[in-house]
Amino acid sequence: MLIKVPRGWELPESAATPERLYLNRRALLGGMAAGSLLALGACDQAPPEPRSTDLAGAASGSSDAAVVDPSLKYYPAAKNPAYADAGRPVTAETLTSTYNNFYEFGTHKQVWSEAQALKIRPWQVKIDGMVEEEQLLDIDALFAKMPFEERIYRHRCVEAWSMVVPWTGFPLAKLVELAKPLSGAKYLRMETFMNPRMARGQQQSWYPWPYVEGLTMAEATHELAFLVTGVYGKPAAPQFGAPIRLHVPWKYGFKSVKSIVRFTFTESRPRSFWEELGPSEYGFWANVNPEVPHPRWSQASEEQLGGERIPTVIYNGYGEQVADLYKGLEGEALYM
Ligand code: MTE
Repeated sequence: MLIKVPRGWELPESAATPERLYLNRRALLGGMAAGSLLALGACDQAPPEPRSTDLAGAASGSSDAAVVDPSLKYYPAAKNPAYADAGRPVTAETLTSTYNNFYEFGTHKQVWSEAQALKIRPWQVKIDGMVEEEQLLDIDALFAKMPFEERIYRHRCVEAWSMVVPWTGFPLAKLVELAKPLSGAKYLRMETFMNPRMARGQQQSWYPWPYVEGLTMAEATHELAFLVTGVYGKPAAPQFGAPIRLHVPWKYGFKSVKSIVRFTFTESRPRSFWEELGPSEYGFWANVNPEVPHPRWSQASEEQLGGERIPTVIYNGYGEQVADLYKGLEGEALYM
């Protein structure tokens, strides 16, 4: 099977990254845990040394942007007690905000500084396809109609690393309600912005930009499907996919599309960014399952950012809530 692109994130990090860099990240994470980050010195391959101003920038976008962000008034949002405890410790923000996948800004994990180029206002969201009426909404007008809450969810990347983050946002079902889809709509397709001048990764023409993901209507209206606008009790920094991204915690992380500008209701199954690149490795469903290996590595366990390697759990531990969605679909490639 041919994928004609550089494939850094498709490999487990130990395999994909030159060992020197891999060891540096391990050292960094270990060093952070031990509070001895400075021991790394000026190693040019490690994430930037976190000066206090950098950390503020990494965690919240530039401080100027945070001051003028019109959505600040929604934070901190009420915690949803049903998702107050993910059964694992919350991952430090210093780690999750400096170790990201956002190919629009580069294929490496320390993409957060490049991602500060993302202009998150003005931002419009289009709702189209099989809906009663097409809508073009200013992001803050959309936010004003939505019930903000905080949920702590586990996140499992297909690369076999994981994290736990307190996400703020609202149920995707609420946006579906606002969209008024027609009864024939079977899928929801979501699309990231397209702006190669701002996001230089999009100048790499061998990728099928813009980034696209999709869910069935049953998945999109499931209680767990969440549109994220903030993290750690404040508006999301650009690298997390500001100003609005998806989080579907029972699926591999690549389903959780960032910086969405378009929601399209459709009869036909959308073909996603990664499916387009590697259909034999990345499917539509992408439900977490430790027993179904990726064609090139095991999915049996995962490395927690800043923590231990632990066994992976089917549906990332959300099976009780979501397994019913897949009854009768056993013939489908549900776990890739
Ligand atoms: N969305 C867009 N638009 N571009 C991306 O590169 N990466 C995906 C997903 N959403 C990606 C994206 C992958 S592979 C993962 S694991 C998560 O975002 C990473 O989210 P995080 O950076 O907040 O950890």
